Amino acid sequence: MPATAGMVSSEEKFASQIGAQILEKGGNAVDAAVAIGFALSVTLPKAGNLAGGGFMMIHDAKHQKNTAIDYRETAPGKAHRDMYIVDGQVDQNMLRYSGKSTAVPGTVAGLIYAQKKYGKLTLSEVITPAIRLAEEGFPISWGLSESLKARAKRLKADAGFAKVFYPAKGGFYPHGYRLIRKDLAHTLKLIRKKGRDGFYKGEVADKLIRAITRFGGIMTKDDLSNYRPTERQPVTGTYLGYSIVTMPPPSSGGVHLIQMLNTLENFPLAKWGANRAKTIQVMVEAMRSAYADRSYYLGDPDFVKIPVKQLTSKAYAKHISEQITLGKARKSTDVKPGNLTPYESPQTTHFSVIDKDGNMVSNTYTLNYSYGSGHMVAGTGIVLNNEMDDFSAKPGVPNGYGLVGGEANSVQPGKRPLSSMTPTLVFKDGQPFLATGSPGGSTIITVTMETIVNVLAFDMNIAAATAWPRFHHQWLPDVVFVEPGISEDTNEKLREMGYKIKKGRTLGNTQSIQVINGMQFGSADPRRPGGTVVAAKASTK
Ligand code: DON
Repeated sequence: MPATAGMVSSEEKFASQIGAQILEKGGNAVDAAVAIGFALSVTLPKAGNLAGGGFMMIHDAKHQKNTAIDYRETAPGKAHRDMYIVDGQVDQNMLRYSGKSTAVPGTVAGLIYAQKKYGKLTLSEVITPAIRLAEEGFPISWGLSESLKARAKRLKADAGFAKVFYPAKGGFYPHGYRLIRKDLAHTLKLIRKKGRDGFYKGEVADKLIRAITRFGGIMTKDDLSNYRPTERQPVTGTYLGYSIVTMPPPSSGGVHLIQMLNTLENFPLAKWGANRAKTIQVMVEAMRSAYADRSYYLGDPDFVKIPVKQLTSKAYAKHISEQITLGKARKSTDVKPGNLTPYESPQTTHFSVIDKDGNMVSNTYTLNYSYGSGHMVAGTGIVLNNEMDDFSAKPGVPNGYGLVGGEANSVQPGKRPLSSMTPTLVFKDGQPFLATGSPGGSTIITVTMETIVNVLAFDMNIAAATAWPRFHHQWLPDVVFVEPGISEDTNEKLREMGYKIKKGRTLGNTQSIQVINGMQFGSADPRRPGGTVVAAKASTK
C-alpha cells in the first residue's frame, strides 16, 4: 500500500510499528530510525544491538543535505597488529568468540548523536517505546524462536544468554511466548536518563568491562568513554542519470557500489535483460574487480589513504570494462592472488525510513555474527559484538566472510575495522527516489548493487527488484554464488563461459523504500522471516 505520510521498512514487526508511530507523533525520519534502532535491540537480538556499530545515511530534505553518520566500532587502545597470531597462525576462536573479538561499541553514541543533531523529538520520546517492549515483554516471533533453537549450543553455554533466552528447566520458549527483558529495560532507562553516559560510563560501563575482561578481552573504561561517532561526507556517483549517495570508508560498500555501477554503465544491460547469462557475466566481472581492489586499498580513512576518487571514477570503470571479454570468465588468480574459506552464517540488519517531508534514513547496523561473540553481559541485556573479525588479522588470511585484506585493514588501536555495510540513497532529478541496503557480510555490496540495477536499469518496482533472484562473486573464492531462482539453463551457460557455480543459500535481506510520483512504496525482503513495512497514518489535525 503506497503512502504519503511516511513509511518504515525493517526486519521486525514491532520495531517497524514503533517507527511509524514516531512519524505519526511528529517525529522525522531520523527520530523514527533511532527509535527503530533501540527497539531492534530488544526484539531482534541477533543483530539489533546497543553494543555493536553501524552506519546511518541521512537525507535532510529542508537543507538538501546528505550526510553519513559513522558509528562503527573501534579497536581498543591496547589492540595491536598481531594480537590474534599464535604460533604464526590466526587463532580464530580468540578472534571471533573471546573477549578480544569485541570492538568498542558505537551504536548508543551514534544513535544519540544522530537524533540530537537531526531529530525533532527528545531522546526520551524515541527510546521509551523500546523500554516499554523490554519491560512489558513481546511475543517471541517465529524467526526469533527458530534462531534461538539454531544457536542453542553456543548461546546456552553463556550464562547471560541462557538466563534471558532459555527456560531454566531446559528446552525452548515457544513461538508466541511473552519474553520480558528486565535487565535490558534497566540499561535503556539509564540511557534515557543520562544519554550516552548511561552506557559509556558508570554502572553499565563497569559491567561491560568486567564481562569483556572475564572473556579474555583488553578493553578499558577509557576506551568506552573515549568512543566518538564521526560524521562523514557520503561518497557519490551517478548511474543512468540517477544520483547515488552512499557510505564512505570505513565501509568499502559505497566505493565499490559506485565502482560496479560505473563499470556496468559500459554495457547495454537494459537491452540484454535481467538475469540473462550475459548480463550476469558482466555483473560478476564488475564484482570480481571491485572485491580485488577492496582487499588491497580499503581500510579506515583516518589511518590509511584510500584512492576513493579514482576507484569511483568513470574513467577507471571504463578501464575495468575493457578487461572484460564477453562470454569468457576471467580467473581471479589473474586479477590478483588469493585464498578461500567457508562461509559462516552472519547477522546484521538494515532499515529504511522516509517521512512526510521527504527526509530519508538508510541505516545498517550489526553485531557482526549472529548474536555477536555469543556473550551477553550479565545484568544488562547487552550482547557483545565480534566486529574485530572484520579486520585483516593476518594479511591474506580470510575473515568469516572469506574476505581477504592487507595492511590497509590491519589491527591498530582506535582504528575502525573495514565494513561492507552499504546504506544507500538514490535521487532522481534531485528528489528522493530510493532508500535501500542489506545485511549479508561480504554479499551486502553486491545485493545492494543488484537491487539498484533491477530498479534503475530493468525498471522493476522495488517489490519485484527485492524478490528477484540474486547472485554474488567476491573475487575470492573464485565462485559465482547463485540463488535457487536463477534458471538452470542460465547456470549452464555461465559454466560454459568458464564460471564455477555454487547454488544454495539466499543472499542478503534488503529493507527498502521507493518513491514514485510522490507516493511511497515499501518493500521488506521475503528471504528472512519478520520483515515488515508500515505506513504512517496521515495526520488529521
Ligand atoms: O561490517 C560488515 O561488513 C560486517 N560486520 C557485516 C556483517 C553482516 O552483514 C552479517 N549479516 N548478515
